[in-house]
Amino acid sequence: MNGFTYTFPDMATKQALLTSVSPPVVSSGNKVTVVGVGQVGMACAFSILTQHVSSEVALVDCVADKLQGEMLDLQHGSPFMKNAKIHASTDYAVTAGSRLCIVTAGARQREGESRLDLVQRNTDILKFIIPQLIKYSPNTILLIVSNPVDILTYVAWKLSGLPKHRVIGSGTNLDSSRFRFLMSQRLGVAPTSCHGWIIGEHGDSSVAVWSGINIAGVNLRKINPAIGTEEDPEQWSDLHKQVVQSAYEVIKLKGYTSWAIGLSVASLASAILNNTGRIHAVSVHVQGLHGINEDVYLSLPAVLGADGVSDVVKQSLTEDEMERLRKSAALMEEVQKNLQF
Ligand SMILES: NC(=O)c1ccc[n+]([C@@H]2O[C@H](COP(=O)([O-])OP(=O)(O)OC[C@H]3O[C@@H](n4cnc5c(N)ncnc54)[C@H](O)[C@@H]3O)[C@@H](O)[C@H]2O)c1
Repeated sequence: MNGFTYTFPDMATKQALLTSVSPPVVSSGNKVTVVGVGQVGMACAFSILTQHVSSEVALVDCVADKLQGEMLDLQHGSPFMKNAKIHASTDYAVTAGSRLCIVTAGARQREGESRLDLVQRNTDILKFIIPQLIKYSPNTILLIVSNPVDILTYVAWKLSGLPKHRVIGSGTNLDSSRFRFLMSQRLGVAPTSCHGWIIGEHGDSSVAVWSGINIAGVNLRKINPAIGTEEDPEQWSDLHKQVVQSAYEVIKLKGYTSWAIGLSVASLASAILNNTGRIHAVSVHVQGLHGINEDVYLSLPAVLGADGVSDVVKQSLTEDEMERLRKSAALMEEVQKNLQF
């Protein structure tokens, strides 16, 4: 038995049925680990499996019963997921050989609590998790989802010893998706055809790139020069305010957020495992970019592939947008310097 997963018994019926030609290949080559089987971890695992992003998922949590229950529940659906292999254990040996490790473990915001309030609690959790993941998958890519995601991605980078391009935070990929959805509601155009980027902190100080918002290359600021400002009669800036409030609103209504972050993480996992070169707003090491001096992680549009982040896009930001980004960086550094890890 490996964790809660049984290996294949060598019984007489099997021997009578099958002639062994070669030993079975144990690794799929696209193994993904998800640490934390709470609302977010399970939404990530479910999206990855049902969208066939990976055919092998290992789940880890510190609560054994819940972990086994989630594993069994998913395994019972495996014929509908192209026979995916799902393993689970409280022992990190089950994660061995993962190409991608997604960390969703830890405390989540309670109603009214900001993401930054969680920082030391979740840093302490990472101090245990990250060395275990690296021990069993030294060449993995780490994708941090636990909040506050930008600071925890920095902590994970430091704890892991991995090069910075292999340690990524889910960042504002979700915020950008929320923004594009809200754009689509205003314009009656599909979200996939709405192009707008939220960068910076995944949190209260995120930055909407109003200078680049476009539909089919038509820059909305050229049509409405006041877009995103307080002077705008159409108050498009409300969209960004709604993005910032989104998590608070969903948490107030249902207690947690799950589906959108699960889908967002699956899109990142797919870009990495399939080496697509797709661009997503993810949390990357930003020192030296856009005049940022601090040693911090924040979201910028980045090219994702098999080795993690290959490039960061040099967006043509306005002075005001860069200033907001630099304020986010200063805020991150302020929180980081009081952290113990
Ligand atoms: N980055 C984002 O966009 C985003 C979006 C939503 C939520 N989150 C964050 O994701 C995290 C998880 O949220 P959730 O709603 O799934 O919470 P949850 O409480 O439902 O689940 C957390 C899980 O982590 C497990 N856990 C705790 N300590 C652990 C440890 N040391 N080792 C292994 N497992 C451990 C718990 O047992 C639990 O199953 C939170 O930090 C939340 O703020 C991030």
